[in-house]
Amino acid sequence: MLNSKSGPVIITSALPYANGEIHLGHISSTYLPADIFRRFLRLNQVEVYYLCASDDFGTPILIETEKKKIEPHEYVKYWHDKDLQDFNLVGINFDSFSQTSSETNRKFVQYVFDILKKNDLIYEKVVVQYYCEKDLKFLPDRYVVGKCPYCDAMGQYSDLCEKCGRIPEKILDPKCAICGLPPVKKESNHYFFKLSNFADVLESWLKENKLLQQDVKKYVLNWIVEGLQDWDVTRDIPWGINIPIEGKAQKDKVFYGWFDNHLCYISSFIDLLGDINKAREKWNNSKIFHFIGKDIVYHHYLFLPAIRIGIKQEYKLPDFIPTRGHLMLQNNKISKSRNWYIGLREFVNIFHPDYLRFYIASICSFSQDDINFDWYDFEKRINNELIANIGNFVNRTLTFIKKNFRNEIPAPTGYDELDKNALIEIERIGRKVGELISSNEVDKALKSILTFSSIFNQYFQRKEPWKNPEQSATTLYVSINAVRSLSILLAPFIPFSAEQIWKQMSLEGNIHEQIWDSIGTILLQPGHKLGQIEPIFKRIDNDKIKEQVDKLNNR
Ligand code: 2FM
Ligand code: ZN
Repeated sequence: MLNSKSGPVIITSALPYANGEIHLGHISSTYLPADIFRRFLRLNQVEVYYLCASDDFGTPILIETEKKKIEPHEYVKYWHDKDLQDFNLVGINFDSFSQTSSETNRKFVQYVFDILKKNDLIYEKVVVQYYCEKDLKFLPDRYVVGKCPYCDAMGQYSDLCEKCGRIPEKILDPKCAICGLPPVKKESNHYFFKLSNFADVLESWLKENKLLQQDVKKYVLNWIVEGLQDWDVTRDIPWGINIPIEGKAQKDKVFYGWFDNHLCYISSFIDLLGDINKAREKWNNSKIFHFIGKDIVYHHYLFLPAIRIGIKQEYKLPDFIPTRGHLMLQNNKISKSRNWYIGLREFVNIFHPDYLRFYIASICSFSQDDINFDWYDFEKRINNELIANIGNFVNRTLTFIKKNFRNEIPAPTGYDELDKNALIEIERIGRKVGELISSNEVDKALKSILTFSSIFNQYFQRKEPWKNPEQSATTLYVSINAVRSLSILLAPFIPFSAEQIWKQMSLEGNIHEQIWDSIGTILLQPGHKLGQIEPIFKRIDNDKIKEQVDKLNNR
């Protein structure tokens, strides 16, 4: 388990495109698991940095700004700011949320390109590209629409068919996405990164790194066997980081977004520390975790490490790349274009952000399999697990002390077998949950917390303190200490509610500054006065769920 002695930890989550709102799908594959891990590490006094940024480049963004007649940098700034606010609404708090279009990233990307060139890992090649003679532009990726060669759907992008989800090798009946005219073919000078040189070194890195997920490794190794293609890292568009050749930036020739975006993991850290030498040193002394979704495995297991190896590991490679499947919504694939998604903001306007965190964490298995957001399952888990189990135990303990002990923790009067067993549960739970969070099993960790809480509900039930309140001091003394442990256990998962429980117990300081190891210690002493007590959670009404399902179905 990581602790303050294991050195700093840097966590990143895949950068969201600055091209629309954050939705539940984003949260489940990377941001929530990473945020739970970050909060847990902080409770363990680990020096941890959680980095992210908006991914500002790429043709979809440029096309959108052309349609809207707005400057790209204004457009991406708008989404950058809005997305950050939305993340914060659900308690996902980064130490840095930068932009791939930042000045530091631009300089850093150009610097990396220069080194790769010096190390003979970049070459020039003339490629034939679509070009629109009316708009006088090259037409990369989404600038060309046409018929999908696989499913015959019309009006699909040349780099993605939204109908069947495949990437067309060659789009049929191509048209310029701006004016609709058929494009011509024209030559352009592009730069390629020699990814094919890295097959052996990547294979050894993957095989030696025991932390990387076995199942992902397996298919990545297969890709290597099938042969790695060199990457065209150039795009002929005016929005992006200019390619510096002989010190001169070339007009309308920029890096492909996937060349620059992952470098922003590093450049945002340089920005955060404000000193490149310090940042490099700390980066190299840290454990590095890149949290991603399974759709970007290729980029993170092959391209990213190859580039870092290509610059002689001036910045170390990741130690771990936690990779998860996608979130489905009511058993259907989330799709923005089909309006089948739920925005974060829309969600928290209806339900408490901790309900979202609790539900997603409870279904968030650590695997490549897709998971499903289901409104009825959500209702069930919140009402039956969060509220009827955790909420019930917390509230019954606090209210009992308030009613029968003038809101003051009573002194224990001796321990029977049940009390002793309960104390053992308190002593053990922190380690168990800590190990599960450390190995990224957030759903299992939450399940253990629920079991802990239900053991205490049974304990309370069996002790029947209501029958003889005067003689129930030990039960309440043990229970309130379990509530204290429970609140720290829950802090990484449902931070807002955990803080509320902490306040109701009238404990000092902020819950997020407590010490994880203290979960196993009986720290609340007789005589301590509790604060104002209210139910922490509110049950979800079935009508409200039905409303949400109808709303989705009628979109
Ligand atoms: O797939 C995406 O949404 C990309 N914006 C992820 C970028 S992660 C990176 F920077 F490596
Ligand atoms: Zn055109």
